[in-house]
Amino acid sequence: HDIPILPRPIRWSAATAAFQIEGARTAGGRGRSVWDDWVDTPGKVVDGSTADPGPDSYHRWREDVALAADLELDRYRFSISWTRVQPDGAGSPNPVGLDYYSRLVDDLLDAGVTPFPTLYHWDLPLPIHEAGGWLARDTAHRFADYTALVVDRLGDRVKHWYTINEPAMTTLQGYATGELAPGEVLLFDALPTAHHQLLAHGLATRVLRAAGAESVGIANNHTHVLPLHDDDAQAVAAYDLIHNRIFADPILTGAYPDLSSLGAAMPVHDGDLDVIAERPDFYAVNFYNPTTVTAPTGDDNPIPFDIVPTPGAPVTGFGPAWPIVPNTLRDLLLDFTARYPGMPPVIISENGASFPEPDRGVQPCDPDRIAYLDGHIRAVGEAITAGADVQEYTVWSLIDNFEWADGYTQRFGLVHVDFETSARMPKTSYDWYGRVIAENRA
Ligand code: BGC
Repeated sequence: HDIPILPRPIRWSAATAAFQIEGARTAGGRGRSVWDDWVDTPGKVVDGSTADPGPDSYHRWREDVALAADLELDRYRFSISWTRVQPDGAGSPNPVGLDYYSRLVDDLLDAGVTPFPTLYHWDLPLPIHEAGGWLARDTAHRFADYTALVVDRLGDRVKHWYTINEPAMTTLQGYATGELAPGEVLLFDALPTAHHQLLAHGLATRVLRAAGAESVGIANNHTHVLPLHDDDAQAVAAYDLIHNRIFADPILTGAYPDLSSLGAAMPVHDGDLDVIAERPDFYAVNFYNPTTVTAPTGDDNPIPFDIVPTPGAPVTGFGPAWPIVPNTLRDLLLDFTARYPGMPPVIISENGASFPEPDRGVQPCDPDRIAYLDGHIRAVGEAITAGADVQEYTVWSLIDNFEWADGYTQRFGLVHVDFETSARMPKTSYDWYGRVIAENRA
């Protein structure tokens, strides 16, 4: 393989999330989140795994820092567990929880890697869920309070922050279809959870800036929507609306798109959109795959599209639900650049893939992952050449980890993790990514 060379240097990163790597679910006074309930409910995780110990990063964070440093990452994207900081989701902070992240930050800085934490990657404290979760407006204010506690402790050393990871997935899969925690099946009645997460992002942005943050943004999941047939434009527009535009428009234009076609409205109060549209310093995109849609089947189908396999596309370990079409990342970036003139610089905050990888005890060889990343990094290069202002790229994930409802059955890491012993072993993709970074570093 030749290493991809971008038209100009950018920053490089790799990502993880607290619940997916930390394990140690009862250590240090940690409280329970919706994901603790989910993994403790039989049948919810395909292999019955509980995320504990998994990679056990609560005890092995130094190994993660060393892996990030050896790659010469510019930044490491990790997430902070709300329930380590506020075990009940409210009140004064748990010092043991904050100490853990403070040590991680110090060790990253000592190793020359800039810490770039996400404040919320899906682990909503259970008491907040019981009080209404993201259906309740008050949760946005609880999130701002939690943000203040974290920045108060880490803000002297951490200057770059992601607020919320993928509100779209929480709304669509957590509250609309029930595939992820908290597992509500509300269909379009889930939409208020989008507004409350966006409001939480805006309120937290203000808290972080007041505390001296240099750059703040939200990490949105986006997909490039493809029609199955030439006459599927309506289905494309409907899916683009609920997956992309509901989450991007208010941030980048200060208004929601017209939702009347969904028979839905957002619970917007006066001033909310000003808070949400507080200009982010970057626009962060998590991208995995395109989504192909067609007109819905059935006469009284409430859903205005059917999601179908992408014809002719190779797939990841998830099968047809995750087609691999790298140039759709380029197309998405160019669509956004045209749709939102003057948008902030773009960070690719997650991109990666899982493939079946048996334990072998020698350096795991993952040519499929190298090919996936190679294609997508080249697509970023093409987008930059065509005018997209991409400044940073992040691999999901630095290490194999707990893949939510799929447990340990899907491995996304540049580094293999033995889930019996938590031992780490770099894959060939890790070495390859190190070479990409060395050739394209800003
Ligand atoms: C999430 C990660 C997840 C990855 C792969 C993203 O949507 O942010 O937590 O592991 O996709 O499914």
